[in-house]
Amino acid sequence: MNEQEGRTVVITGGTGGIGFQSALGIARTGARVLITGRNRERGESALQRIVDETGNDRVEFVVGDVSSIEGIDALARALVERADHIDVLVNNAGYMGSTPASSDDGLEMHFAVNVLAPWRLTLALLPALEAAEHARVLNITGGDKPAAIDPANVQAEKGFRGLMTYQHSKSAMEAMSMALAKKLEPEGVTVNVLFPGRASTAMTGSMSAKALPGAMKLMYPLLRLLFKEDGGKSAKKAARSTIWGATSPEFDGVTGRYFNTNSKEQKLHPTAYDSQVQDSILAVIKATEGPPSPRP
Ligand SMILES: NC(=O)c1ccc[n+]([C@@H]2O[C@H](COP(=O)([O-])OP(=O)(O)OC[C@H]3O[C@@H](n4cnc5c(N)ncnc54)[C@H](OP(=O)(O)O)[C@@H]3O)[C@@H](O)[C@H]2O)c1
Repeated sequence: MNEQEGRTVVITGGTGGIGFQSALGIARTGARVLITGRNRERGESALQRIVDETGNDRVEFVVGDVSSIEGIDALARALVERADHIDVLVNNAGYMGSTPASSDDGLEMHFAVNVLAPWRLTLALLPALEAAEHARVLNITGGDKPAAIDPANVQAEKGFRGLMTYQHSKSAMEAMSMALAKKLEPEGVTVNVLFPGRASTAMTGSMSAKALPGAMKLMYPLLRLLFKEDGGKSAKKAARSTIWGATSPEFDGVTGRYFNTNSKEQKLHPTAYDSQVQDSILAVIKATEGPPSPRP
């Protein structure tokens, strides 16, 4: 029997880019893999491709949008209907916008997708994670250099700065993950942050010059070259750390850590470990918490 058989791995945003390549690699190990995404057609076609390429038919697609509280809660319900235990949750779906945008709940969109969604989805799936032995949560970050968090700017209160707002939201997610790791330690669920590495994907392909602040706009042609369509080659490379985090036995019991694209441990920025910074991010999250949205 394959070592990963019997394990269930959920990957949000597993229908394209790095998430898809992660799903492909993890499905190859024999695990059951549930991929999620907003678009049903894209999801069904990703699912078919994974089954065809790996021979693993225990792959499923679950539709869901994590940009709203209602969407997160609906996705969590759909996932637990299919899986009574979840061994690995990969919070991979992310958002990078070139212009200011708000979620359906009135939150700054980077905060909604990159910070609130991984927190809320993890907690909504906690019973299924607790039902697995040594469950792992992997939160996928962006920006290879851990950067300082300004707790007064988690929803771009000091002005929207495109790529910088994206990177700051990922730093806030790193702090949130450290707090979540502490919270879930007594439940035996680990939480770690992984950096995949740069890849040419729909996300990077959609970046416009507007997303670059000030003089960085001059670098736009260079970035276009760097993120040139490559048929999934760079996304496959970037998926290595997620595949390792999801399947490696040496990862059991490891929590509250950060690993780079080469799966090497690094330190986050000191502000990510600062409990006051974590508390102010959690305060913004808690302000969004009410009773779960009713079933349709
Ligand atoms: N690409 C890079 O260079 C890079 C570098 C560092 C970190 N990252 C991080 O890696 C992760 C994956 O990035 P990527 O570049 O692979 O992105 P991508 O190619 O744009 O793929 C995103 C995936 O997430 C889904 N998705 C997007 N928005 C969603 C939403 N609101 N709700 C549910 N699903 C959603 C997409 O499917 P649908 O569109 O059908 O929903 C797709 O499956 C992100 O967290 C990103 O920040 C990327």
